[in-house]
Amino acid sequence: MVQIPTETPENAAENPQLTSRRGFMATASIAIGALFGLQFVYVLFRYLAPWGKFRVARPVRLVTDQQPKEGECVKVKYGDSVVLVIRDEGEFKAFNGACTHLNCLVRWQPATKKFFCACHNGFFDRNGKNIAGPPPSPLLAVDVARDGEDLIIGS
Ligand code: FES
Repeated sequence: MVQIPTETPENAAENPQLTSRRGFMATASIAIGALFGLQFVYVLFRYLAPWGKFRVARPVRLVTDQQPKEGECVKVKYGDSVVLVIRDEGEFKAFNGACTHLNCLVRWQPATKKFFCACHNGFFDRNGKNIAGPPPSPLLAVDVARDGEDLIIGS
């Protein structure tokens, strides 16, 4: 007579193979859950506290003719992003052009000296600070440095 093995929870402790399989499945479930949990925490952290400076690509050099005049804005391709460089009271400032709400491209309004996002009427002041509408945080600043007469964006 052939005896059919029975593996029920009652005798699981007596069968090390069954116990180790259960242990493996429990460990794998915990590890997968932890990965999803960490991913959620990372996304939440980036949303609440975006990096202060935006640095994703090689620096871009703007020669004198390419630089914005007082009160104007110039769009610069920076990696896969668009950086807006403004000249405000003689000082050059650069910001990632992606709105911090849902990534629409913001526009510089020279008359009001503000950045405007047309997607949901978001406003940022000339220092990139979110001042109205849904954007939850300031525009990401991009470093600007001088190299003689040239400007180095993302240095
Ligand atoms: S994407 Fe800019 S305000 Fe919503």
